[in-house]
Order: sequence, then structure tokens, then C-alpha cells
Amino acid sequence: MKKQILSGIQPSGILTLGNYLGALRNWVKIQDDENYDCKFFVADLHAITVSQDPETLRNNIKSIIMQYLACGLDAEKNTIFIQSHVHEHAELGWLLNNYTYMGELSRMTQFKDKSKKQENVKVGLFDYPVLMAADILLYSADFVPVGQDQKQHIEITRDIAQRFNSLYKKEIFKIPEPFITANTAKIMSLQEPTKKMSKSDENKEATIFLLDSREVITKKIKKAVTDSENVVRYSDDKPGIKNLINIYSAVTDKTVAEIEEEFKDSGYGKFKQAVADAVADLLEPIQAKYAELALPENDEYIKEICKKGAAVAHEIASKKLKEVQEAIGYRTI
Ligand code: TYM
Repeated sequence: MKKQILSGIQPSGILTLGNYLGALRNWVKIQDDENYDCKFFVADLHAITVSQDPETLRNNIKSIIMQYLACGLDAEKNTIFIQSHVHEHAELGWLLNNYTYMGELSRMTQFKDKSKKQENVKVGLFDYPVLMAADILLYSADFVPVGQDQKQHIEITRDIAQRFNSLYKKEIFKIPEPFITANTAKIMSLQEPTKKMSKSDENKEATIFLLDSREVITKKIKKAVTDSENVVRYSDDKPGIKNLINIYSAVTDKTVAEIEEEFKDSGYGKFKQAVADAVADLLEPIQAKYAELALPENDEYIKEICKKGAAVAHEIASKKLKEVQEAIGYRTI
């Protein structure tokens, strides 16, 4: 039996280098391993936990599918779909609400951070980890490849699944595990390197987006906040340089020791230029592929992928939902 892999990204605009190195790049690697059966979706039901303009949301959903493909996800090797096309996500989410405690959800750090930034916090934002649990449990995922910030949501998913299984004395849900790649699990902000790089950072200098031009990438990396030592050394008390070394290492596959050796006689200027060149070289083919996918003649192709993906996902999700409903006491009449 192949191991099941599942992950998703919210459609909140152009992906960041953090999303790519923390998640998407790992998905592209896993898809070629025959031991895994992979499903990747656009988490559009999660996106409305903050206000959304309909036109922007529509464009962002399509754009994420195009970014998945441009980054190398292969629709022949994986199931790619849009969450809202598979109604079982919302349905299982509701059921699982009744096996989840307010106290558990109140402890979620992402909720605490995001709710601070809003005046009228929506119930959906609070409830978001339960929907995420439904996403994962519907497909009996063994592994969920994500960045560090999602680890807590996978832990609560495990708790909900274990609670449900033991209540009904049946292994209805598979207990999933996070799949996190050490050095790229948390790519930091270029402006505040103790904070994660985020799509929604108001300071655009802090974030590299997958569609940034070479010129913009170079400008952002040159302006990245570092210390004044001017020595390329990997250390926790040099978070800015540590982050740039992590990025350079992830992009070039060089080890930290090799990087320190390569730049031992150069200051930050030369190092930053090398990081910027490496990142721009990495993103160039992705951007070319994205531009090609954006041509109107490819609209049908993209729609077909989503339609096919949703059909496959629905087939699996509906069976799991039925099992859950039967365990609870529904579907008897
Ligand atoms: P989202 O859309 O915020 O982020 C998508 C993925 O990118 C990772 N990530 C990062 N990794 C490293 N460094 C960073 N700075 C960085 N920023 C983001 C995230 O960890 C994530 O893997 N709740 C999820 C979407 C979701 C989901 C799911 C994921 C919904 N249902 C089920 C897995 C399984 C989210 O908002 O990710």
C-alpha cells in the first residue's frame, strides 16, 4: 500500500519563497517517489476566514493552481483539486466541531496572532483548525508536508482523530504525521528575521514572491536586515544572515559549512548578491511556465485538471464521510 500524502495552500495571492521552500518544493520532490500517493489542493474554504473580494478570490484560486503547475507539480502524477469543489470537507468539518474543545482551539498560536490583527474576529477563523483536520482525515493522510507554522494544526488533527476513534472504538481515522524539512521549515522575513516570511506582511520588502523580477529580488535581498559583523557565519545570534544562509543552502544544495567556506573572505555585499542571483535563477523558469499557463488558450486545460482532481477526491472523501456518519448514528434510515 502506498503512503498517502496530502497538503494545501490558501489562495491569498502570489506565493512566497517561504511557501515554496517550506512546502511546495517538497511536494514536487515527493511526487516522483513511487511509495507515495499525493493529493494537493487549494484551501479556498480557509481563505474566507478573513474578508475576501469575490473577483480577487476567483483570480487567486486559479493563480494558485497555475503556481502549483509552474513549480513542477504534475497533474498526471498527483491529484490536484480545489477544496470547495469537494463538499465533504465542509461536512466533515461540521461533524468534527462536535469532537473538538473550545479550549484546544483557543491555544492555537496562529489564531492568537491573526485575531489580534482584526476587529471583528470571525467564528471561521477560530474554527479553522477543525476544517484543516477534516481536510487531512478525509483522505487518510499518513504524512502532511508543511512548514513549521502548521505543526500545531496537525497535532490538533491527531488529537481529534484519536478522540473520535476511541469514542467509537474503531480505527475510522488514520493518525497523520507532519512532514517538515528542517532548514526550510521556517523561512524568515527579510526585514524582521525573527518573524516568519508571510504573504500578508504589510512591508513588501520583507517577502520574496515567486513572481518577483530579478531586479526586485536583488533589491529586497540587498536591503535584508543583517548584523554589523560582516562575517558570513551561521549562528542563532545572527538571524538575518542565518536566514540568508538557509535560503542559499536550500536553493543551491550546498551545505552550511560549504557556504561559510565559500564566503569566508567576502563581506555581506558579495554574499547577498550570490543569494539574489541564486534565487532569481531558481524562479526564472517557474515564472516563464506561469506566463505560459496564464495564456487564455490554457484555461480549459487548467479547468480539466481541477475537474478531474475533484472527481478523484470526491470518490475517496465520500467513502470516509459515510464511515464517519455511520459511526455517529446517521444513515440508518
Ligand atoms: P498557508 O497557505 O499559510 O501556507 C502554505 C504552506 O507554506 C508553508 N509556509 C512556510 N514554510 C516555511 N517558511 C515560511 N515562512 C512559510 N510560510 C508558509 C506553510 O507551513 C504551509 O505548509 N492551513 C494551511 C493550509 C491548509 C492545509 C490543510 C495544509 C488547509 N488545510 C491541510 C495541509 C493540510 C495554510 O494556511 O497554509
